[in-house]
Amino acid sequence: MKYRTDKKPERYLVTSALPYANGPVHIGHLAGVYIPADIYVRYLRLRGYDVKFIGGSDEHGVPITIKARKDGVSPQDVVDRYHKIIKESFERFGISFDVYSRTSSAMHHQTAADFFRTLYNKGKFVEQTSEQYYDDEAKQFLADRYITGICPKCGANNAYGDQCEVCGSTLSPLELINPKSAISGSVPVLKPTSHWYLPLDHYQEFLEKWILEEHREWKTNVYGQCKSWLDQKLQPRAVSRDLAWGVPVPVDGAEGKVLYVWFDAPIGYISNTRELLPDNWELYWKNENTRLVHFIGKDNIVFHCIVFPAMLTAHGDYILPDNVPANEFLNLEGRKISTTNNWAVWLHEYLDEMPDKEDVLRYVLCANAPETKDNDFTWKDFQTRNNSELVAVLGNFVNRAMVLVHKYFDGKVPAQNELTDFDREILAEMPIIRADVETNIETFHFREALKRAMDLARLGNKYLADTEPWKLTKTDMNRVATILHIAIQICADLTSVLAPFLPFTVSKLQKMLNAAPLCWDECSRLPAGHQLALPTLLFEKIEDKTVEFQMDKLNKSKQNLNSQSVK
Ligand code: MF3
Ligand code: ZN
Repeated sequence: MKYRTDKKPERYLVTSALPYANGPVHIGHLAGVYIPADIYVRYLRLRGYDVKFIGGSDEHGVPITIKARKDGVSPQDVVDRYHKIIKESFERFGISFDVYSRTSSAMHHQTAADFFRTLYNKGKFVEQTSEQYYDDEAKQFLADRYITGICPKCGANNAYGDQCEVCGSTLSPLELINPKSAISGSVPVLKPTSHWYLPLDHYQEFLEKWILEEHREWKTNVYGQCKSWLDQKLQPRAVSRDLAWGVPVPVDGAEGKVLYVWFDAPIGYISNTRELLPDNWELYWKNENTRLVHFIGKDNIVFHCIVFPAMLTAHGDYILPDNVPANEFLNLEGRKISTTNNWAVWLHEYLDEMPDKEDVLRYVLCANAPETKDNDFTWKDFQTRNNSELVAVLGNFVNRAMVLVHKYFDGKVPAQNELTDFDREILAEMPIIRADVETNIETFHFREALKRAMDLARLGNKYLADTEPWKLTKTDMNRVATILHIAIQICADLTSVLAPFLPFTVSKLQKMLNAAPLCWDECSRLPAGHQLALPTLLFEKIEDKTVEFQMDKLNKSKQNLNSQSVK
């Protein structure tokens, strides 16, 4: 086992959960996983670190086969369709992956099969036979979700083999009363089948030490979930399934069996790194000076903190994650986001309906990210944060500074003259804010980091409001010059502290300032005489009608839902 937290890393490998390619991405995914991951990697790049950001679609698993059956197409058709939508919307939204690939690729099939074979050859699996439901008409074993019946707990009619959606109980298919195959409608029969299991119990002691003792710094929600899994004692987990869609189990006599999706999907991080760096990928996965960080949602914690590390340890060549900063869930207007009920704000639709507002959504979802508890997204809050923070604070400050320099100095940065104590205070505050943003990003407190970055714009606003340079233009142009010189330096500083959060806005601001992108610590000043470009507005007010349009759209989903349940 190789990992180290004490040493300054030589490189970072950052992954974000591979979304299932059975639907588009929504704001819950963004707030929980992709926005924090993107902020983190953008920051690391600005600091000059070697960082690779790995993403991709998770294209296996039973829900994809169910969707395919429902739509009357093949599973490959389903994933082709959604992979394209997801990949394009991430691109448009500025999630800056170094690679975004997919688990149906040949590279992934080979990597996952090799990984399985290594564990198999090392004798890391246990083979076990058990009785499972089989559909004699369709001639196939039935995944839990393909079996329906009466819930033994509440008596509801259409419970699934893994869960009753009426009472929420977790079930096993054998508990269902009057089980039926969802494929043919026939009564399933029990038939023996053998599978490979990863004996997680063998890793119990190691994981206890590694997580509970050596990773006390992990987020409380993550640490707490790991502890509760470990306290309940780990059990062997099957890593194969009787299914026709997935990575075939690469051993003789395993016809009709594929790797369990949660076995192959995290290996996708490795496959996608190989695709990005065919000759150099091992440096990122096998060298102890790499820092591996997984961004995920809370439902993925056990797989990333327990199962995947056990797989990596069993394999032996790989480093383990240094941190797994999982978030909680984001709700929408007080209800749980639901793909099946269309209770969601879909990224691709947002991008079409709100052109040029990528950063507004990035801002709102970061400012309100479910970092420590579930949170709620409302369109009203979206509007308020845009109007009273982005427009009134950030946009207003930059615009005032730019307009004044154009009005009184032909758009050329004026020279700084004698400084007052207040000027010195303001200048001293700038590096303090930057240091706070830094510490907060490095410890995965992105909301606080963004708040501190916005404090710089607040500081700028306050500086102009207190010094009122527009009142001094008749009497003291030297003083006006100093004030605007400082205001422009604050604008320049904003281009780096805000860059991880608001990349689109920052590139507009750089154009206005006629300045090249800055590195993080390079607080290079725009010199007196530097010519600024003409100002444009960074943000626009969001009107009530925009919010009403979005609310109407959601309410239609709600009506559809209500009329469905009446039927
Ligand atoms: N597809 C899973 C989900 O959406 C996440 C897979 S993450 C990976 O919950 F590590 F397995 F890739
Ligand atoms: Zn029930």
